[in-house]
Amino acid sequence: KRATIITAPFSGGQPKGGVELGPEYILKAGFEKQIKNLGWTTTVEHPLEGTNFELKKSNEKDEYGIKNTVIVNECNKLLFDRVLTNANLGNLPVTIGGDHSIGTATVSAMLEHNPDTCVLWIDAHADINSPKITESGNLHGCPLSFVMGIDSESYPPIMQWIPQNLKPGKIAYIGLRDVDDAEKKILKQYNIPAFSMFHIDKYGIGKVIEMALDKVNPNREYPIHLSYDVDAIDPSFVPATGTRVEGGLSMREGLFVAEAVAETGLLGSLDIVETNPMLGETDAHVLDTVGAACAIGRCALGQTLL
Ligand code: ARG
Ligand code: MN
Ligand code: MN
Ligand code: MN
Repeated sequence: KRATIITAPFSGGQPKGGVELGPEYILKAGFEKQIKNLGWTTTVEHPLEGTNFELKKSNEKDEYGIKNTVIVNECNKLLFDRVLTNANLGNLPVTIGGDHSIGTATVSAMLEHNPDTCVLWIDAHADINSPKITESGNLHGCPLSFVMGIDSESYPPIMQWIPQNLKPGKIAYIGLRDVDDAEKKILKQYNIPAFSMFHIDKYGIGKVIEMALDKVNPNREYPIHLSYDVDAIDPSFVPATGTRVEGGLSMREGLFVAEAVAETGLLGSLDIVETNPMLGETDAHVLDTVGAACAIGRCALGQTLL
């Protein structure tokens, strides 16, 4: 059992500062030791070291209608290489963000590693805008369109290296509650399995995970990439994040998702993103959020209550 913690201190996929401090706070909270205590051999890699992406951030949309294309692209190239290399070595990549634009790299790298990989995207948001339809121009709202090749004619040429290797039937969402109208159209058009908070209230989180896995992994045979945006969990438990939406998962529901994936024995890789320590109004807010991010990681990597 080997895991590589890959830090992705990057905020260029959205306008707020502070999300680049997520990895530092999570590591300072003892995350690596917590994973070691679960029986994993761990290494930590910092592929963005020395890049200074934060200094190059701007809030201007470019001719493609998106922001910070160059740094988001460069960041994803570096992460793609480290995630793919580690997966090929048999190490489980745990990528700690940073904003969710890094999902472009982690998802496409894991599908490059094993084309059977399926994706569980745990999020209040669908993150499936394309340059063509995004209203905000923030690339943390777009990673899934890039890896699926949706509206690919609207992509800047520098992003054409991204493997468009995720098929619509290989991803399921859990926790959605703030989906843009144009994104709703895409979810329908491509028939992407999506379980919103409505479905969680209606069926319960246990049943929803079974339904999601039945869609993307019916025989429970494929590796799972779990991409966990902490804003899936209700802001009362996870306040320090950039795009809070009320009415989210309870803390137990949020951890149950990770525990249930661990229980399948199929976890192949994990992202924990959108922890922004600068957005806590109190120290407790920051502690709660960083603590939740660590707990998600522990649960996904096999921590059980008994
Ligand atoms: N749909 C909105 C947008 O595209 C919000 C995206 C929020 N994404 C996130 N990873 N928190 O701007
Ligand atoms: Mn593998
Ligand atoms: Mn989100
Ligand atoms: Mn997200």
